[in-house]
Amino acid sequence: MNRLLLSVVALVALVSCAQGHPDIDFPFGRIVNGEAVEIESHPYQVSIQTTKGSHFCGGSLISSDTVLTAAHCMQSYAASELQVRLGSTSRSSGGEVVTVRAFKYHEGYNSKLMVNDVAIMKLSTPVRQTSKIRAIELADSEAVSGTNAVVSGWGTTCFLFCSSPDNLLEVGVELLHYKDCAQDTYNYGSDSILETMVCATGEKKDACQGDSGGPLVANGKQVGVVSWGNGCAWTGYPGVYADVASLKKWIDETSASL
Ligand code: ARG
Repeated sequence: MNRLLLSVVALVALVSCAQGHPDIDFPFGRIVNGEAVEIESHPYQVSIQTTKGSHFCGGSLISSDTVLTAAHCMQSYAASELQVRLGSTSRSSGGEVVTVRAFKYHEGYNSKLMVNDVAIMKLSTPVRQTSKIRAIELADSEAVSGTNAVVSGWGTTCFLFCSSPDNLLEVGVELLHYKDCAQDTYNYGSDSILETMVCATGEKKDACQGDSGGPLVANGKQVGVVSWGNGCAWTGYPGVYADVASLKKWIDETSASL
């Protein structure tokens, strides 16, 4: 009986990892089928951690003292329990570590619908911008399906039983307007993809657990915040992101007032 259960678990693990790795490319070293990169190519990328140094979400620097992330990342913490690592390719060492003065998540965030999944964090002290630490501009127009984009982070390299890499990874994907994403071909019911979301997809390419809150960038501007997905890189299920352009007013106002 126990053996049967074990084989089922092993099979599920194998299948789920193999889905991210069509060529069964062990050992794992990618977001899901991405590439290792240096922080200079994503200087806005930050790691959100507990003060003990454990990475749990990504974020992006949007001004010298402001980080944009996902609301669902902030749900179980107080600001005093958090720190942000900036300017480092490694999530566990290097760069600068700054504590968090305050954060606020969107009043309309709903964890069942995963709608309005954005939060703003204020750093205790502003950072000096360098080639490794630089704020990113926010997109202000609707996403166009088919536009090339890139998502980065220290999240796992497959849905189940994969670890998080220490080196920053990126993967190239294509934007999908929310209306296209909600269509039948993409398997999400039309009521699960809402106007304040945007999707991104690629052949077995996706963000995954631990990438949440991190940036999806196209043409030098941040288009999305990693939010949710059905599995990771599963065919027919694009990654879903909070749509920066439609939430920009809230992001700007909250950044200015917090
Ligand atoms: N919710 C996940 C996190 O907390 C991110 C999921 C993104 N999933 C995806 N398939 N794109 O890290």
